Amino acid sequence: MSSEHFKKIISHSKEYGFIFQSSEIYDGLSAVYDYAQNGVLLKNNLKEYWWKSMVHLHENIVGIDSSIFSHPTTWKASGHIDAFNDPLIDNKDSKKRYRADNLIEDYITKCESNILKEQKKQEKRFGEKFNKETFLKTNPKVLKIREHINQISLRFSNALKNDDLIELEKIIVDCEIVCPISGTKNWTDVKQFNLMFKTQLGATESSSKVLFLRPETAQGIFLNYLNVQKTARMKIPFGIAQIGKAFRNEIVARQFIFRMREFEQMEMQFFIKPGTQKDWYKYWKKTRLDWHLSLGIDKSFFRFHDHEKLAHYADAACDIEFNFPFGFKELEGIHSRTDFDLSNHEKYSNKQIKYFDPIENKKYIPYVLETSIGVDRMFLAVFSSSLVSEKIDDNSERVVLKLPKIIAPYKCAFLPLLKKDGLPEMAKEIKEKLKLKFSTTYDDKDAIGRRYRRQDAIGTPYCITVDHQTLDDNTITVRDRDSMRQERIKIETLEHFLNNSLDINNWLLKGG
Ligand code: GAP
Repeated sequence: MSSEHFKKIISHSKEYGFIFQSSEIYDGLSAVYDYAQNGVLLKNNLKEYWWKSMVHLHENIVGIDSSIFSHPTTWKASGHIDAFNDPLIDNKDSKKRYRADNLIEDYITKCESNILKEQKKQEKRFGEKFNKETFLKTNPKVLKIREHINQISLRFSNALKNDDLIELEKIIVDCEIVCPISGTKNWTDVKQFNLMFKTQLGATESSSKVLFLRPETAQGIFLNYLNVQKTARMKIPFGIAQIGKAFRNEIVARQFIFRMREFEQMEMQFFIKPGTQKDWYKYWKKTRLDWHLSLGIDKSFFRFHDHEKLAHYADAACDIEFNFPFGFKELEGIHSRTDFDLSNHEKYSNKQIKYFDPIENKKYIPYVLETSIGVDRMFLAVFSSSLVSEKIDDNSERVVLKLPKIIAPYKCAFLPLLKKDGLPEMAKEIKEKLKLKFSTTYDDKDAIGRRYRRQDAIGTPYCITVDHQTLDDNTITVRDRDSMRQERIKIETLEHFLNNSLDINNWLLKGG
């Protein structure tokens, strides 16, 4: 996928009512977005698909909805006050601020693309005689770039591991990385920057308490874990799932809804016996990848990335990465969080929050396996991999959003062929009977071909056309979004037809 494709995604999502820039009339607020009339339907479907797979399909997982604010000591205990930082660097000429690690990552990507450019050049020159493997192994220019990449990557990963800000700065200087705006190498020192937003509780400045907008929903689960365990009589292993907003003062917020300052997470904390974390880590890695694949997106879009630098709370961690239009990036994190959070909450609150294990007849602090996915990233993943332009029979082009059908904003559109002879009334009557079961829409404006295109562009799987024959024999035509094939069926079989292919519950029961 290319940056051209990415631009198309952003403009399509605006033009067709999926995502708008927040506060657009005031020139927008950077990295904050609003979900529009079609976007909210797609987003809600994604959340429903996740919630049902987690909570409904697992006997031992329940859901909660905790508050965005929590006692400020929460964030001391969780380590976010001390360790939730990004390394930042300013360019003195452009006055622009960057994440030092992003600048280095971008530099490494540029070096990689130089190898690719060299390869393309030689491929063109030698045509069929070109041998890629030999070329990559022996070409002096490529070998030099490769060695440089290896050296820089090693220094970079050591600097990250050791939180070595001076080394990060040295890498930027040694690689002669320039500011993309000013083009100069006039950098400040690298500093740590805490990503949490602060606000205050209380009427006056002097009496008020500093609160933080939560940077992850997980802590709300930890604070409630024992209450939930006791009131739901859960036994280890058990999970608590939650969907909710999180906030991060991201230094570089770019790439549309990929990195936002206000976003939504779907997180599940799975409480387990200490010592069993390796097995559960493996289990959730597989289960979560299977969940993604169950939506029908091609496997080549996904890959695992195991973390070298572990977050302050983890003993093992990986990302499920997705091939976004700007390359493979993190979509979901799977973290073995040990007892870090619960132990610290016990320490900072001075309250016992141990679990009593009736089988072992002893108390202990459970270990935690976490799966954490951003709703907005999931949205971008399905949206970007579904948007295609294709040539059709009459040589014209159509833009179609080939979303997994069960999560499409509208499951079907009702289109009377003409706006007369009782056809609109008939179409509305059929829609009326299905509207609570499925999300449906109606359109009688413009020629039928244009209406099909509009539905293709928002990803509606089926267009139901009502014509004169419908009045005679109670049949309708069902047009499939992807194949564009039309089938004539009886009105009374429509619900069954839609149930089979579009009902999330049926889909989940069949295992996706
Ligand atoms: N509780 C663990 C945690 O928050 P994380 O890897 O920092 O881990 C989990 O975040 C997921 O949240 C990411 O995989 C990503 O999908 C999403 N996410 C994180 N920061 C985001 C941002 N600024 N904008 C959109 N989504 C974000």
